[in-house]
Amino acid sequence: MRILVINGPNINMLGIREPDIYGKNTYADLCEMIESYAAEKGVEVKLFQSNHEGSIVDEIQAALGKFDGIVINPAAYTHTSVAILDALKSVALPAVEIHISDVSAREAFRQISYAGMACEKSFIGMGFEGYLRGIDYLMSR
Ligand code: DQA
Repeated sequence: MRILVINGPNINMLGIREPDIYGKNTYADLCEMIESYAAEKGVEVKLFQSNHEGSIVDEIQAALGKFDGIVINPAAYTHTSVAILDALKSVALPAVEIHISDVSAREAFRQISYAGMACEKSFIGMGFEGYLRGIDYLMSR
């Protein structure tokens, strides 16, 4: 099984950005955790992070025929990007939405998730663990 893990803007700043919200672990720590979990489960993963909406759209489109599912934390684009929603709908791969923080308990502008409308499941507010639960979900599906 091949899973594409996409992270949006500022996820590369984990460990530095708002540690009270996102924790002290870095993006490299997150990648290591996902890679070792995937290896343990016999899943092939590609990790992709971008601060650019169009690059994320390109990566989703390129996943067609190459991956069996997508784990995505679109970060701030969650709440704004119809383009990412449409890209996920276009490829129609099983997708899972992840948020490190509990967006449901945060600002009003974080209460809408466009990408989430194209995702089968959401793992929210579970920290880095959410990514692993996303992989589990795609495997069990
Ligand atoms: C986030 C939540 C978003 O609202 C925010 O813009 C992020 C990270 C999360 O993982 O908790 O950058 O997606």
